[in-house]
Order: sequence, then C-alpha cells, then structure tokens
Amino acid sequence: NMDPALINFKVLYVLTQLCGLTMIVLVGTWIGQHFGGLGGSSNPKLEFNWHPLFMTIGFIYLYGNSILVYRGFRTTRKKTLKLTHAGIHMAAFVLTVIALKTVFDSHNLNSPPIPNLYSLHSWLGLSAVIIFSLQYVAGFVAFLAPGIRENYKIAMMPLHIYFGLFGFVLAIASAVMGLTEKAIFAITSPPYSTLPPAGILANVIGVLYVVFGALVVYLATEPSYRRKPIPEDTALLSSGSANE
Ligand code: HEM
Repeated sequence: NMDPALINFKVLYVLTQLCGLTMIVLVGTWIGQHFGGLGGSSNPKLEFNWHPLFMTIGFIYLYGNSILVYRGFRTTRKKTLKLTHAGIHMAAFVLTVIALKTVFDSHNLNSPPIPNLYSLHSWLGLSAVIIFSLQYVAGFVAFLAPGIRENYKIAMMPLHIYFGLFGFVLAIASAVMGLTEKAIFAITSPPYSTLPPAGILANVIGVLYVVFGALVVYLATEPSYRRKPIPEDTALLSSGSANE
C-alpha cells in the first residue's frame, strides 16, 4: 500500500548515501595513500590535506544531507525537521570553516608562501561559502525566529530553495575544480597525464561529487517526492506552514 513514488525515493536516497559515503572514504584514501595523510601546522603540505577531506564531509555531504532531511524523514514533525536542518547545516558550516582555515594556513606557512585567492577555484569556492552563510542567517530569521508572519515565510520559501540549491551546486562545481587543480599540481611522478592510480582515483572522486550532487538536486526538487504535512505539524502551537 506504499506510494510508488516513495519507493523510488527510498531507493535513490540509499544510493545517494552510498555515493556520499564512498566519496568521503575515497578522499581519505586519496590523501592517505598519495599525499602523506593528515598533519598539523608544522607541515603545511599535510595540513592542506584537511581541506579536501573536511570540505567533502562538511560542504558536500552534510550540506546535501541537510537539504534532504524534509523528504528523507517525512514522518517527523515539521518543527523537529527545521531544527535538524539548521543543526546539520551548522555542523557543515563548522567543518567548512576549519577546511578554509587549514588551506589558508598551509598557504601562509609554506616556504615560500603560496599566494591566497588567486584561483577560480578559490573565488567560486569562497563565494559558495558566503552564499551559504547569508542563506543560513536569512533562513534562521525567516523560519526559526519567533513572530514572523506566515505570509512572509511563504514569500521567502522559493528564494530559500533557490539559493540553497544554488549554493550547493556551486559547492560541487568548486570541489571538482579544486580536485582538478590538486591533481595537476601534485600528481607528478608519474604525472597525471599518464593516468596513474592517484589520477584515476581523483577522477572517480570527481565523478562521485557530480553524481551525489545530481541525486541530491533531483530528490530535493522532484514534485512527487515532496513531504506532505502531517497532523503533528499543526497539532501543537507551531510555526510550520503547509507550504514550507
Ligand atoms: C584552495 C575553497 C574543495 C583543492 C582553496 C581556497 C578556497 C577554497 C577559498 C583558497 C585558499 C587560499 O587562497 O589560501 C574550497 C571550497 C571547497 C573546496 C569551498 C568545497 C566545495 C576542494 C577540494 C580540493 C581542493 C575537494 C581537492 C583537493 C584546493 C587546492 C587549493 C585550494 C589545491 C590551493 C590552490 C588554490 O588556491 O586554488 N579552496 N575548496 N579544494 N583548494 Fe579548495
């Protein structure tokens, strides 16, 4: 008696998680096997390696999963989902800030220092983080702060959805660029152009970023997967609206 759309959703949701977790494990494998693993600020090369790892866990995997909470946990009441959404996004943000700190540190501590913010990757990546941050504050004010009028929330929702997905897609695009840069800079003996194991792994990780991103956007936008309001949403004095 289960809605067929929900069965499709579940299959794709599990696939999304497998994709996301594989992506994280492979980034760990990549930096561990080919770039010396993780290290502190005494070794800028190793400190850099936190950057791709924490961006992948925080700014890709958690960001994507936070987008999916409403559809993935549709039987949970709205208020709890909103707090979970805000909470996972906060965890994503903390990891993202650490990932930024480690890359800036590793550039500044390198001898000679590596220039900051020269690449397209860094411009678009930082833009994605700024969009995410503004979106977080706007979402908090619009949907979690008390006393906001219902028609204001309804008016804000399309913007919130658009900028949320835009920031996420920009994060995926930035991650792919960063990965490409690192592959060209650091896979040198044998070089990336000879398709060595480190290069193949980089390419597989990049494909997984894109597939993960594509699945998240599809699951978040397909109309038949939309969460329908449940009685608990309005049973208590709640600020949830049927339209969120
Ligand atoms: C540098 C953001 C993911 C590789 C940077 C910088 C930023 C940034 C702002 C500039 C740091 C500085 O100027 O000192 C992001 C964001 C990501 C992301 C928001 C997530 C979406 C990745 C990934 C890799 C990577 C997955 C793969 C290895 C690099 C490299 C640099 C760098 C090699 C140094 C060269 C450069 O400045 O472009 N990243 N990054 N990044 N990132 Fe990422």
